[in-house]
Amino acid sequence: MESDTKAETTTQRVSNCMLEIRHLTKNFGATRALADVSLSFLEGEIHCLLGENGAGKSTIGKIIGGLHKADAGELLFRGQPVALNSISEARTCGIAVVYQELSLAPDLSVRANLQLGSHRSRNPFARLRHRQEADEAIAVLRGLGLEIDIEQEVGNLSVATQQLIEIAKALMQSPQLVVFDEPTAMLGAVEKQKFFEVLRVLRKKRNRFHPDYPSYRRRHGGRRPSQHHAQRTPGGFVPYGIPS
Ligand SMILES: Nc1ncnc2c1ncn2[C@@H]1O[C@H](COP(=O)(O)OP(=O)(O)OP(=O)(O)O)[C@@H](O)[C@H]1O
Ligand SMILES: [Mg+2]
Repeated sequence: MESDTKAETTTQRVSNCMLEIRHLTKNFGATRALADVSLSFLEGEIHCLLGENGAGKSTIGKIIGGLHKADAGELLFRGQPVALNSISEARTCGIAVVYQELSLAPDLSVRANLQLGSHRSRNPFARLRHRQEADEAIAVLRGLGLEIDIEQEVGNLSVATQQLIEIAKALMQSPQLVVFDEPTAMLGAVEKQKFFEVLRVLRKKRNRFHPDYPSYRRRHGGRRPSQHHAQRTPGGFVPYGIPS
């Protein structure tokens, strides 16, 4: 009976799977960053990937985001094998990545940064949508607790605010799945709480996240917004589990 339920749960997990990574291996020269890594992500789930420095957490995020190509293994998006050869191909699948390093243009306005890289900015009628996009930007920023003038230059803002804008930039794409690489590293306590609230709201809306908090347990004890976590050891296989 118990094994029937378990089998059913596994079957449901496979059929509801949004993204599955299978047997990923990635080498950088002589460094084996990933060796036979498999993970699955369902709709509405928040995952947290834990591991020491160099364990390969960012490499997984970069492969999912189309920045790196795996040497071996495959990615399945909604059950279909996908070759995510570029950031733009990953975006087309609805995948957004907030990288560890800030990628904002400091001399441009908050609004311009939020529109950069967005598919909608390539719309020939983009000017007509200016007001609507500005309203969307303001709404996304408010959700992150930012009440700021979107016409001001990003370079004049604090690093914590810039990190929230980086997160907002990913959310502006209305992604189906978001990978956050150490999203709270530069945030203060209040900003972290806002960010976690946004995760919970988006989970309710059935957006997906995969936050990467390498020393999360150490820094935050048992408080974490994720439902699932996986532990990485350098280059090793990733056991998968549901935290207590
Ligand atoms: N572009 C690259 N060129 C060469 N080696 C790389 C590159 N990217 C990652 N590596 C190496 O691959 C391994 C995994 O790196 P990765 O950045 O994925 O680890 P991480 O778990 O994110 O670590 P951290 O907690 O420090 O962010 C490390 O040994 C790293 O030095
Ligand atoms: Mg990293």
